[in-house]
Amino acid sequence: METYDGAPEPGGAPALSDAPLPTAEEANPEHAAKDRPAEDQTVTEAAADEPVVEQPVKLLPVAELHLHIEGTLEPELIFALAERNGIELPYADLDELRARYEFTDLQSFLDLYYANMAVLQTEQDFADMTRAYLERAAAAGVRHAEIMIDPQAHVSRGIPLETCVNGVASVLANSLAEFGVSTLLIAAFLRDLSEESALGVLEQLLAMNAPIAGIGLDSAEVGNPPAKFERLFARAKEAGLHRIAHAGEEGPPSYIIDALELLDVERIDHGIRCMEDPDLVEHLVAERVPLTVCPLSNVRLRAVDTLAEHPLPAMLAAGLNVSVNSDDPAYFGGYVDDNFVQLQTVLGLSEFDRVRLASNSIRSSFADDERKTELLAELGYS
Ligand code: HPA
Ligand code: ZN
Repeated sequence: METYDGAPEPGGAPALSDAPLPTAEEANPEHAAKDRPAEDQTVTEAAADEPVVEQPVKLLPVAELHLHIEGTLEPELIFALAERNGIELPYADLDELRARYEFTDLQSFLDLYYANMAVLQTEQDFADMTRAYLERAAAAGVRHAEIMIDPQAHVSRGIPLETCVNGVASVLANSLAEFGVSTLLIAAFLRDLSEESALGVLEQLLAMNAPIAGIGLDSAEVGNPPAKFERLFARAKEAGLHRIAHAGEEGPPSYIIDALELLDVERIDHGIRCMEDPDLVEHLVAERVPLTVCPLSNVRLRAVDTLAEHPLPAMLAAGLNVSVNSDDPAYFGGYVDDNFVQLQTVLGLSEFDRVRLASNSIRSSFADDERKTELLAELGYS
């Protein structure tokens, strides 16, 4: 099984994730500042009746743990790939496409997300998309990325598994040298399809020795509970793969419990609805289960009404092991840095909390201990 950039053998325990969190004094933001990009972003806090206050937002080194590579297809790239591949899009121009980015729920987004994948035809297309993401992510402070791909969404429209996997993997193989971003690839399975379909693709991936570090579970959540995929996750565990699953985005807290108990996942993607179940929160805190939260995604897909009402501050206050991620940045209004800027602007997230979120992301990754230590040192932990 190949891995990228010094990643651990799949199945290896991410030992650092169990280490106790350093105290505020141990986390030294001043030290970290020297490693940050010179031109940190500036946000404008504009309350209706107050003067505009410029606040510097420092980019922290982070791990992005919840990212769908197909969700990084920017409108411009969609049009460029359509032209290159002779595909006629159902939108006359960029404005017409962008006008469709008003989502009412997860499914309304998924409909457009899957439709736009039609422009991905060749290895080069997958490679170009991946390169564009890594370039943008590096500028956002991302130093390690665990990238999901949806193989079934490509195989089902006649694209060979090798084309999509090799196209993405060819760029990830050099991501540390080219962009300073260590990477791992995760094959995500579509929960609205059958378990047989998922098992078939997983066996193919294993047979071709695809460079995947783990599996995930995504797409339409409600009505497709974790229990549907017990055999898939057991097979992945047997094959030495890491396991993650979307749960508690639109689905109930019981899906989070089932993902942990039935699928033996190591991280929960989203997980925000855990806040409806105090016993579950207590369990997640005690076990330090990582929750990869995506604030801008939650607002765009109406999982929460506004960013001001996002549960992230309450999740941090409860002691949950949360990180901030972009999910499908081309669709949801921004990359990791945009998420952090909005969190600081709208929710007044403190420097202490932002360092904690960055540290959680690094500790909760599947990167090897050496890489985690390196990134934590950049953040100011030594
Ligand atoms: N949720 C579920 N499935 C997905 C998402 C998401 O936010 N993005 C891409 N597939
Ligand atoms: Zn997601």
